[in-house]
Amino acid sequence: MCGIFGYIGSKPASSILIAGLKRLEYRGYDSAGICLVENQELFNCKSSGKIADLESKILNAKLPQATLGIGHTRWATHGEPTEINAHPHFDCKKEIAVVHNGIIENFQALKSLLEKEGHIFASQTDTEVLSHLIEKFYSGNNFEKAVQEAVEVLEGTFGLAIVCNKEQKIIAVKKGSPLVLGIGDKEIFVASDAAALISHTKRVIYLEDNEMAMLSTDGFAVKKFDGTIIEKEIQELKWSVEQIEKGGFEHFMLKEIFEQPQAIANTLRGRLSSNGVKFSFTLDPCFVKRIIILACGTSYYSGLIGKHIIERITGIPVEVDYASEFRYRNPLVNESDLAIVISQSGETADTLGALKTAKAKGAKTIGIVNVVGSTIAREVDAGIYLHAGPEIGVASTKAFTCQITALILLAVYLQQNKDDCWVDLNFLSQLQELPNQLQEVLSQAEKVKNIAQIIKTSTNALYLGRGTNYPVALEGALKLKEISYIHAEGYPAAEMKHGPIALIDENMPVVFLATKDETYEKILSNMQEVKARKGKIFAIVNSDDTLAKNLADEFIEVPFAVDLLSPIINVIPLQLLAYYVAVSKGIDVDKPRNLAKSVTVE
Ligand code: F6R
Repeated sequence: MCGIFGYIGSKPASSILIAGLKRLEYRGYDSAGICLVENQELFNCKSSGKIADLESKILNAKLPQATLGIGHTRWATHGEPTEINAHPHFDCKKEIAVVHNGIIENFQALKSLLEKEGHIFASQTDTEVLSHLIEKFYSGNNFEKAVQEAVEVLEGTFGLAIVCNKEQKIIAVKKGSPLVLGIGDKEIFVASDAAALISHTKRVIYLEDNEMAMLSTDGFAVKKFDGTIIEKEIQELKWSVEQIEKGGFEHFMLKEIFEQPQAIANTLRGRLSSNGVKFSFTLDPCFVKRIIILACGTSYYSGLIGKHIIERITGIPVEVDYASEFRYRNPLVNESDLAIVISQSGETADTLGALKTAKAKGAKTIGIVNVVGSTIAREVDAGIYLHAGPEIGVASTKAFTCQITALILLAVYLQQNKDDCWVDLNFLSQLQELPNQLQEVLSQAEKVKNIAQIIKTSTNALYLGRGTNYPVALEGALKLKEISYIHAEGYPAAEMKHGPIALIDENMPVVFLATKDETYEKILSNMQEVKARKGKIFAIVNSDDTLAKNLADEFIEVPFAVDLLSPIINVIPLQLLAYYVAVSKGIDVDKPRNLAKSVTVE
């Protein structure tokens, strides 16, 4: 949450900062600001609202043609999303400017102390203590030292970019919130996410916790907070500029939904053959007595499906926990446990916290992550990258289906290493069929769009599924609520009669996952129960299934797949449904209210 972008070089900084912030806007979009350094003076412009609002304000702001500056797009934690609370924040003398991603947990104590010493605060943010704290330690020529001293008293998480009016320099500081440097030709960038750097350079350096980088046109130096110099490796980004553009689609979310056949093929590529699954790590499955899957949100739901997959294929018991709950409940974990952490961004604060807890208790860890080089990817013992390409729409789509694909690969890998001869060739070939099957579902987008016109006026919706499709119901409901603001609940279909059935009347749309598996007959009975109470049934059904079609008011046909694979197919119409409902309600689907893509605060 919150995006930081900084630039030092020879080009006009202001337009580079705006372009960078636009790339980071998925991280927060309630207010934004920039600060430029020119002739020993700091110039700033801030605005509430989106980057486009800031951009138009800058046009009239008469800012200098500076070649050094920092910018920020905010997802509010402390203080409302007003212009005053927008970053950058300054000290009393306007010599220091700070942009921040994270939370300063001891800000209240620090603020009281600084106020007693005479500092005047302008905003309600936790961030502002930083600029005043640096001011307290700054004596006119010790910028770096002052930052070091300030950072030492901070508690919490922070990614920072700081400038000082007297220095042609940016100081970037990292503890808990991601920061990556982009190394250009006599120019250096700093950003919260490497995707924002691709149009400038593919050469990047990921900062680790407790590191700070001093950036100037002469180059950069990275040090530990205690001043020790660190040699950092420059890495090459693999993503292309095209991947982070909309490519003719109206929204990133729609593009990402349509990218799923290719994304899944990418997750499978090079890992799957008729001999089974190959990964670049080796893992002895014999030590694994139990698997714990840890994740948040959509990634948690793919973890719930992962439980079915792994238990069925390997016989190893699996628990799935919300990362935020796991980390604070002193969980029972030991050396024979394998913790699988799932995260699209690789930066989710709770998932990272849960990973650290599992590691500290002796578990081995595997990460299923999309963003290459992200913090979780670097912290785990072994990792599986999704290779889904950048996911920019706030609502997760392609990451979900690729996560399930990766969990299937991992389960097959574990099992084949336990039992040399185990390879279910039929299952593996069905897995390879998925991209084609997804293409078939996507070709029905127009039909889903029509169904969306019926649902868009509802205020509630129920999503029902069983077995591996119960988490799909949860995911379908989450997609609808987060981007269309319609209240939706996912339930195991059989649980409906234990309470939610009371909600059903002619105004309640009920979305059924009714494809053929072991509980199919029972789902049909649940559909009957809804029909008897005049609920409106929208069903995902197999193409050859007349029974389910007859029970439904509206249906979408999907190709048949075994129940371990069907979630990957069945979720597609639910993603499209949420998308078209939100679009028809005029909502900015890529940036729905109150949300941010990468949840780097607890
Ligand atoms: C929902 C959504 C969120 C994320 C969750 C975890 O569409 O995107 O629920 O799934 O915040 O994020 P990652 O996977 O980045 O850890």
